[in-house]
Amino acid sequence: MKETNKAPAPDLMDKIVALSKRRGFIYRGSEIYGGLAGTWDYAHYGVALKNNVKAIWWKRFVTDREDIYGMDAAILMNQKTWQASGHVSGFSDPLVECKKCKQRFRADHVKKVPADPVEHGLIGKALELKGSIAYWECEDCGTTNVVNTRQFNMMFKTNVGAVEDDDSISYLRPETAQGMFVNFKNIVDSFHPKLPFGMAQIGKAFRNEIAPRDFLFRSREFEQMEIEYFVKPAGWEKSFEDFRKEMHAFVGDVGLDDKKVHELEVPDGERAHYSKRTIDFEFDYPFGKKELYGLAYRTDFDLSAHAGMSKANLEYYDEETKERYIPHVIEPSFGVDRTVLAILSNAYTEDEMGGEKRTYLKLAPSVAPVKVAVFPLLKNKPELIKKAREVYEALKKEPAFGGAVEFDDNGNIGKRYRRQDEIGTPYCVTVDFDTIEKGAGVTVRDRDSGKQERVPENELSKYLSKHHTI
Ligand code: GAP
Repeated sequence: MKETNKAPAPDLMDKIVALSKRRGFIYRGSEIYGGLAGTWDYAHYGVALKNNVKAIWWKRFVTDREDIYGMDAAILMNQKTWQASGHVSGFSDPLVECKKCKQRFRADHVKKVPADPVEHGLIGKALELKGSIAYWECEDCGTTNVVNTRQFNMMFKTNVGAVEDDDSISYLRPETAQGMFVNFKNIVDSFHPKLPFGMAQIGKAFRNEIAPRDFLFRSREFEQMEIEYFVKPAGWEKSFEDFRKEMHAFVGDVGLDDKKVHELEVPDGERAHYSKRTIDFEFDYPFGKKELYGLAYRTDFDLSAHAGMSKANLEYYDEETKERYIPHVIEPSFGVDRTVLAILSNAYTEDEMGGEKRTYLKLAPSVAPVKVAVFPLLKNKPELIKKAREVYEALKKEPAFGGAVEFDDNGNIGKRYRRQDEIGTPYCVTVDFDTIEKGAGVTVRDRDSGKQERVPENELSKYLSKHHTI
């Protein structure tokens, strides 16, 4: 069986978006009203895939360790949190607006072009500025504009309570991190952890992105999985290196090809305001190499800022050295939706099977929304249906599959295989006449090769479990 050439990249994105909708993974947010830019709604299989990603992350970074404490902090926080963290004054992107069509873009994303100063009536001005004027071309209407950048704060502002005044201002959090920093003292008081230790949280974050784009890649509402790992000031480099390795290991856990993940050392001047060192983990998406995750050394920036603003004592008492100090922080930050997008684009495959074109998702069993599907060979034979339901119910109870087992007797068997291929189900089990008449076991079809094997009924669960671990 030969894989055909992968579709050209932009076309591939359209196909992934179409499959996500067709098969019930992800829909456009508020679609019946024409959508709401930068929002996406996860449906049945999308939720299952996303939950698998989150469960694998939680297991690796919380349950399997002894030094990281889970958190689920409120999304709305006291506005002082965001004043202290620097987000009120500094969480902004450079914005430009087209003078003709009024579309707005991120200044660092627009196409810079040479402009004809005569045509733009800019001669005097351009000469005055000795050619330092730059121009950009509007990607919507083609107009050439002079660069005139202003800063745009990306936090969504709201008011808490019935009175709308300055005191009631709050924000939808733009990162989950701050919900952990403000609880640092609580965790120390509840658990008395020794340094180094961490806090972990999975939750929604919101950013009023100037130009949401590329499906789930840049949206206005998304989920993050973040760790704030508190270390002795002198010990940050070791923890940084440890998490660097752990992040690659997690990439493997969710079935992504680590060769498609590239580290980028973010240079001075380009890092977030709180970071002394950042490595971006970039992924080869169909639209190019773009950020998947980030690993940052946030120093004591956040805890010191919150100690200053709140007047709470956020020092840590080190029993070994008998010293008090503010710990430093290593922050591995993972986007859930960017992981889902990387998984979908990594898995989308077209090939030919039995002389017909087919599409399938080559998902790792660990993230596949359905681990096994069970079919009767024919849909109108009660004896086949009865047996198939028995097999299905037994598998549904097996802990190894976590209930991610589906029964399907709709349409013909070929259609059912195509559907499960597009959902990314690794195995389909079929009950046929030999199963019930000769006790010849069931057939198990492998998604990627299409090959079928007969497996005795009492060995089925063991056979499938070999391939299904999270
Ligand atoms: N607490 C650190 C922090 O928030 P960030 O690099 O701004 O750092 C972390 O965001 C991760 O969140 C990114 O690596 C990405 O995976 C995800 N992310 C950020 N903005 C996003 C957006 N607009 N849409 C989807 N995911 C986003």
